[in-house]
Amino acid sequence: MIVHPYSRPRRLRKSEAIRSLVQENQISACDFIVPLFFMDGENCKEEISSMPGYFRFTLDLLLQEVKECYELGLRSVLLFAKVPDELKDNTGTESLNPDGLMQRAIKAIKEFHPEMYVMTDVALDPYSSNGHDGIVEDGEIINDISVEILGEMALSHAQAGADMVAPSDMMDGRIGFIREVLEENEFPNVGIMAYSVKYASCFYGPFRDALDSAPGFGDKKTYQMDPANAEEGLRECALDIQEGADIIMVKPGMPYLDMVRMVSDKFEVPVAAYQVSGEYSMMHAAAEKGWLNLEEAMLESIIGFKRAGASLIASYFAKDIAKLLKK
Ligand code: PBG
Repeated sequence: MIVHPYSRPRRLRKSEAIRSLVQENQISACDFIVPLFFMDGENCKEEISSMPGYFRFTLDLLLQEVKECYELGLRSVLLFAKVPDELKDNTGTESLNPDGLMQRAIKAIKEFHPEMYVMTDVALDPYSSNGHDGIVEDGEIINDISVEILGEMALSHAQAGADMVAPSDMMDGRIGFIREVLEENEFPNVGIMAYSVKYASCFYGPFRDALDSAPGFGDKKTYQMDPANAEEGLRECALDIQEGADIIMVKPGMPYLDMVRMVSDKFEVPVAAYQVSGEYSMMHAAAEKGWLNLEEAMLESIIGFKRAGASLIASYFAKDIAKLLKK
């Protein structure tokens, strides 16, 4: 006998029109945070060897890039400075320089494109001679003195005009300390996006090429999370929210979409997800070999973030996707 089901989910997939009517999630340009890399110099952009199509800009060209992003409908950037080796030391002294590269970049963007929302990476690793996110003593990453520097770094970004600071270091207690420093110095409206659930991941490899920030010894497992853990991530989020985080983040993205879902179900603050460098690079590599269609792969990966519950997505595909959406 032939089965005639009353329920036929395929009715709602019959045509483009009905599919679009019942579509549960959409991507729009204003969901994105655009990570930007920059360096000293003039009129120069360098392609990052392990991130095809992604560049480090000198500040003049960075401004141009910010303008293009804004015109494409993108509304926030996340800044990462490439610091020359000779300016690196164990305590990240250069990170507090009011005329440092990061501080100049923030000022320039806020001067020429004040409408763009500027977020900044707060972490020691790009400034550390050890390539670690904290101060090193006898081979250990020391928490509390690192947090003090992170507080000062966040303050110096706020003074330069940052809208939101994004501590990516995973030191304990840094969100509360940064919040306190910002309040005490009359920056109550500078936000904090906490990298709350940040894993010790191999997918950061290409990023470390981009900033030349790979750890000089050991790994980051004493501060970044074990990929095997989920509950621990919820504890991290609860702490960061209690300490004053405005937005919490899960990072990397695609291997951790379960965490995006758990965190967005459980907490009432916006959740960001970071599609990291390795996720970008592996899709590019497969596309170069002709194994994946890059456009389809990027869109499918991003809708996955939305479906999992991310309200903001940091992605190196942001500009490409904004261009596709414009078409
Ligand atoms: C460092 C930092 C990292 C990333 C953002 N901030 C790397 C790391 O923790 O080693 C990775 C981003 C990416 O891979 O795209 N504080």
